[in-house]
Amino acid sequence: MTRPLQVDSFLPADYLAEALRADVVRGLTASPKELPPKWFYDERGSVLFEEITRLPEYYPTRAEREILRARATEVAARTGAATLVELGSGSAEKTRLLLTALTGPGRGGRPATLRRYLPVDVSESALLESGTALVQEYPGLVVRPVLADFTHQLGVLPDLLPPDGPRLTAFLGGTIGNLEPAPRAEFLAELRAATDPGDWLLLGTDLVKDPAVLVPAYDDAAGVTAEFNRNVLRVINRELRADFDVDAFEHVARWDTAQEWIEMRLRSTRAQQVTIADLDLSVTFGAGEEMRTEVSAKFRTGSGPSWPPPDSPSNNGGPTRPPGSLSPSPARSEPGAARSEPEGRAVRPTGRAVPARRAARSRPRAPLGQMPVGARRRSRSGSPAARPVGCGTRNSAERAPLVGEDAGMPTLSQRLVDRGEPAVRAQLAHPTVQGIARGDLDPGVFRVWLEQDYLFLLDYVRVFTRLAWQAPDQHLGELVDLAYVTWHDELSLHRGMAAEFGADLVGAVKGPECTAYTEFLLTAAEEYGRGLAALLPCMWGYSMLGRLLAEREPSEPRYARWVAAYADPDFALLGLRCAEMLDDAYRSGLVDEASATAAFDEALKHEMAFWDVRVDG
Ligand code: SAH
Ligand code: TRP
Repeated sequence: MTRPLQVDSFLPADYLAEALRADVVRGLTASPKELPPKWFYDERGSVLFEEITRLPEYYPTRAEREILRARATEVAARTGAATLVELGSGSAEKTRLLLTALTGPGRGGRPATLRRYLPVDVSESALLESGTALVQEYPGLVVRPVLADFTHQLGVLPDLLPPDGPRLTAFLGGTIGNLEPAPRAEFLAELRAATDPGDWLLLGTDLVKDPAVLVPAYDDAAGVTAEFNRNVLRVINRELRADFDVDAFEHVARWDTAQEWIEMRLRSTRAQQVTIADLDLSVTFGAGEEMRTEVSAKFRTGSGPSWPPPDSPSNNGGPTRPPGSLSPSPARSEPGAARSEPEGRAVRPTGRAVPARRAARSRPRAPLGQMPVGARRRSRSGSPAARPVGCGTRNSAERAPLVGEDAGMPTLSQRLVDRGEPAVRAQLAHPTVQGIARGDLDPGVFRVWLEQDYLFLLDYVRVFTRLAWQAPDQHLGELVDLAYVTWHDELSLHRGMAAEFGADLVGAVKGPECTAYTEFLLTAAEEYGRGLAALLPCMWGYSMLGRLLAEREPSEPRYARWVAAYADPDFALLGLRCAEMLDDAYRSGLVDEASATAAFDEALKHEMAFWDVRVDG
């Protein structure tokens, strides 16, 4: 029994022809040439984008999915949305997390609130495919796909919506970053006009982060993004009878430090002439001439730095932020302020120790290399018509702070991380860490570390389960998940390395440093909030250390893989989730700052001491 799916089309019949024509004439006669991005998404383009979202380098989708997984229940409870409108819905893959939360029984058996879902997209194939699947997956939900251009047709939406409850508009995937500042402002104004008091906006954006993480996300090794970028030429060839030699254009992705966006271009590999028959237009490209096709702007949260870290060498002596200070980061509108890392600094990561999927499930040591942690912004009651909920795609490498409630104060986890940063950096001076960086660490020393760390991790899993036991409902699943990924990773990652180093994981016996650290953690975990604070140095510290070491490009392959595993953005994401749980615990009065700080400080000391692990006293 399939309900027929009807797509409401608001695109004028000649939309493709007319709007594309106008864009192409304008773009190809401009200097420098450019093409607007919405033309990427024909059927093939939508499929290629789906592939992008699964690339190991393309972290935003995974990061956003994790956030939605963690927060969808909260979004459902707080918005009580009757209608979900999604702009640029694409495959609506992540949207299912919201749909499930909004259609399932709420907390305490509160009834589901969602009645209808309106995906809005310019890609009819994406709307049909996702809509058809959703109708079957969510019986009882009205799915009403809308074929429209969100940059100037938001006005059609209110007419489609019966006023029977709050509306939640979701705009995910960082798509807002694909609008340049002026069109973005127009878009937001139109969105506001189409929004009623009491409606909600859920915005997923990416944050400024290390270009070494950013650039590969838009220039993947497998060349999928390059194919996606060139797809715009195929669309023009087909729709406007043009003769672009698609293979004579190569993909370029660059981080623009001043604008804080990734700029995608197509570079003509030779001098050539292109004719667009339907437009009666011929354009010439010089050898090496570049045409801009897309920007992907990255954002900063209201307070706290994101990248580069305060005393990073790439900061060229710009203002540094003393630990604990609250100075806001330079706003996007202040070009040239404070940040000066050269464009060319982006270096491909040295490779990963574990395949992407495993890395994602990897042991949750160490988030926040350069303190990631994304934007958390609570609604400010009363003011704007649309209240943002949990805006901001966080991920891994980003260094944005957890923004405190309303006051603009950094949160507890941010204060702790600021406080602990020097201690993590100090670990770089430890001979063992130096040996890893230089590649000449005695493998016998690493073997002992590996055995001790393995034993440590067994207890680490116990710490998570002990915390899970005490967790408030909304974090129970996350803690179980962290225990699970830790357990599985340890087995794979550590076993893999144990074979390489001849370590004996089964026969190993805890040395004094390991015993002291695990006893401390297990005791701290008897109190939920204190336990979370005690985990932070390990989770966040290893991510930061991993990233600092990755910058030194360790040459010994086994150590390089180890470093890459900890520098992986996915580690940072796991730590971020712990930081968030700690902040929630703090807000709920489950832990006070003094006791969290004491636990954090003590764990940090154990972290340093762990580099001295021995087998016996
Ligand atoms: N939300 C999905 C897809 C993001 S890709 C995710 O997060 O993975 C961007 C989507 O926006 C594509 O499906 C594309 O077809 C759509 N899109 C781009 N420009 C648009 C416009 N001007 N109006 C409507 N949809 C647009
Ligand atoms: N909204 C996506 C982003 O900015 C779109 C995107 C990802 C994209 N990769 C791309 C657009 C490559 C053009 C080319 O992350």
